[in-house]
Amino acid sequence: MPNELISDVNARRVWDSRGNPTVEVVVTTQSGRVGRAIAPAGASRGAREAIDMRDGGSALNGMDVKRAVKNVETRIAPAIIGKNVLNQAEVDQAILDLDPSKLKSELGGNATVATSLAVLHAAVAAKGVPLWRHCADLSGNEPSLPLPEIQIFGGGAHAGRRVDIQDFMVMVPGADTFDEVMEVTSEVYRAAGAIMKQKGRLAGVADEGGWWPVFDHNEEALETLVRAIELAGEKPGDRVVISLDIAASEFGSNGRYRLALEDRELGRDEMIALLGRWLNDYPILSIEDPLAEDDPEGMRAFTQEFGSRVQIIGDDYLVTNAALLEEAVRDGACNAVLIKVNQAGTVTESMDCLAAAKAAGYGTIVSARSGETEDVSISHMSVGFGAGQLKVGSITRSERTAKWNECLRIADEMGQGAFVKGAPLASTVWAQKVGEEA
Ligand code: PGA
Ligand code: ZN
Repeated sequence: MPNELISDVNARRVWDSRGNPTVEVVVTTQSGRVGRAIAPAGASRGAREAIDMRDGGSALNGMDVKRAVKNVETRIAPAIIGKNVLNQAEVDQAILDLDPSKLKSELGGNATVATSLAVLHAAVAAKGVPLWRHCADLSGNEPSLPLPEIQIFGGGAHAGRRVDIQDFMVMVPGADTFDEVMEVTSEVYRAAGAIMKQKGRLAGVADEGGWWPVFDHNEEALETLVRAIELAGEKPGDRVVISLDIAASEFGSNGRYRLALEDRELGRDEMIALLGRWLNDYPILSIEDPLAEDDPEGMRAFTQEFGSRVQIIGDDYLVTNAALLEEAVRDGACNAVLIKVNQAGTVTESMDCLAAAKAAGYGTIVSARSGETEDVSISHMSVGFGAGQLKVGSITRSERTAKWNECLRIADEMGQGAFVKGAPLASTVWAQKVGEEA
């Protein structure tokens, strides 16, 4: 492995898409190569994900990151200066060695992830290759363009809990190119806006750019989404399908699920039955966190019943953790995992989870957070890791379109043939859908 040694590490406070402070890190090498990255921030966070360090107090609602910035410069920097940026695993291990806490609470997950990503970028500057290529080299995976899942309506913690369900999204697995996915999705997004306007319910957008969910009950969002797909000239379930992030940990615990909008509480079995009915009545091909993170029994039961026909993604449930993923594989819970680099806290740990998922035949979806910035690292990761899927939020707001547009640039570099129609979805799911049509 060639050597490109870190000579300097600097951090500063910058701002995310919710107007909250976050951490940016700049890594410089001895030959003057520079890598830079920014930590994202979640709102519906898993209990077992890396913890961002926030300063507390009254200023900035306690969200300031001055301590995390200082940790990068006074604690992480001395430990990684002199290390080789091309050896990501070694640099990440040096960061891990500094923080014996399980959830990175000593350094701050925001400090560790921004540093780890900046190292990745510095390596790319040193190698003179695109980031996606370096990610493919590091992971040993064949690069491919991801299938996007794109939000049409926001909800849950991203929309003041106006509805209980968090993400109402579309996927276009029937598209031939990445570009076609974006075009079809844009039509659906616009159609959804037109329907909301016509009903007198257009009220701006939620945190990730999807329409604000002015609905009387959760299912009304699904009904509206189907109508929007039709209004866009598509047959629901044909080229365009629905993907949901229930984010059930936000309203469920101890096997009870409280749907505030509908003023009712469901037990585990009733919750599974409700989602099962939605899977029957709507063209849903992917569902994330259908049960809460403290409900492995529910997740196992749900996977057993529906896992052969729908992608079941663990987000809060698996928090990009290889050990939790392996446990879920043994348990028969979920069949896909969301990969959020700041849940793990370093690039290497995210890659470990991705590798464990691929080894188990689980689907992998690289994902943004609801608090995002202009940083486009995850677009490259989704390609270079051969993840197959990418979740970034809606098709509006620049912190979102920055990621989609970067994928379009990569598509031009790689050739549109790098987008594999339908294949990225958990293969059983897609095979079954195609089989039913044939
Ligand atoms: P978060 O939401 O970034 O607020 O956690 C994203 C998700 O749940 O997928
Ligand atoms: Zn989620």
